[in-house]
Amino acid sequence: MSVIEEIKKLKKEKNAVILAHYYVPAEVQQIADYIGDSFYLSRVAVDLDAQLIVFCGVGFMGESAKILSPHKTVLMPAADADCPMAHMADVETIQKVRAEYDDLAVVCYINSTAELKKYSDVCVTSSNAVKIVKALPQKNIFFIPDRNLAHHIAEQVPEKHFIYNEGFCPTHERMEEDEILEQKALHPEAEVLAHPECNQGVLKHADYIGSTKGIIQYATASEKEEFIICTEEGVGYELKRQNPEKQFYYPKSVPVCPNMKKVTLDKVLHVLQTGENEVHVDAELREKTKLPLERMLQLAK
Ligand code: 13P
Ligand code: SF4
Repeated sequence: MSVIEEIKKLKKEKNAVILAHYYVPAEVQQIADYIGDSFYLSRVAVDLDAQLIVFCGVGFMGESAKILSPHKTVLMPAADADCPMAHMADVETIQKVRAEYDDLAVVCYINSTAELKKYSDVCVTSSNAVKIVKALPQKNIFFIPDRNLAHHIAEQVPEKHFIYNEGFCPTHERMEEDEILEQKALHPEAEVLAHPECNQGVLKHADYIGSTKGIIQYATASEKEEFIICTEEGVGYELKRQNPEKQFYYPKSVPVCPNMKKVTLDKVLHVLQTGENEVHVDAELREKTKLPLERMLQLAK
């Protein structure tokens, strides 16, 4: 039996559901029951009846699914797939900023550790951040950990005062303005679609800025035939699947998230066979962390 056949057989036997982020390798997306951006996957994990979830993504994704659905078993095929940005803020700074401003909301990008979420008022993803920040009653927003997403939201919500944190995604940050200009010169008809984790030099050339799902939806709905994609190359699988006739170009230093690429078919099969790499979140941490996550689900409706 091939690895794929074995995965399918075990999935059925164990009544498991496989969730995959758009950045994991194409062959893993192909065997997933649900593929999506971080927000979509966090909602699916809650709504599913299945008790066993195999989460093909990075640590904070499986952790958030477990926090929101404590009675489900969440298995991570790659236990060491960790998003470096998730650690780029600290509790001391949150407490310092809280002491400085009284009318403050700490807004935490879902790409963060449970420990950071615990000290935050609400979580957001790139697909709902603007809507949620607009809806908050507080004037001052301390946005952690990503400075690029924070600046992007601040531009769209000028009525709020932002305090920035210096976190960033190494995969998106690496893309340079020059590379975008180079691609634009090579493909003058192409539209530039960028993830808000990109730096300002890249974002200022974007025709559309949004989540991975937003980028795929935009390209699919657009009448244009060519696109310069400024996000992790894994989105290419779904972009091409939905738009086989369109052309997608990437900056020369093609963005690859090494952690998302740790998820392989062999590892998916291994966790289904063994039940290893189960996500555990201790009860006290979960109680405090579920509040900002649940608030996100509520405010994003
Ligand atoms: P999305 O929420 O757009 O899927 O982004 C997740 C992520 O990790 C981006 O680097
Ligand atoms: Fe984290 Fe960046 Fe990888 Fe997304 S692409 S999981 S933000 S390192």
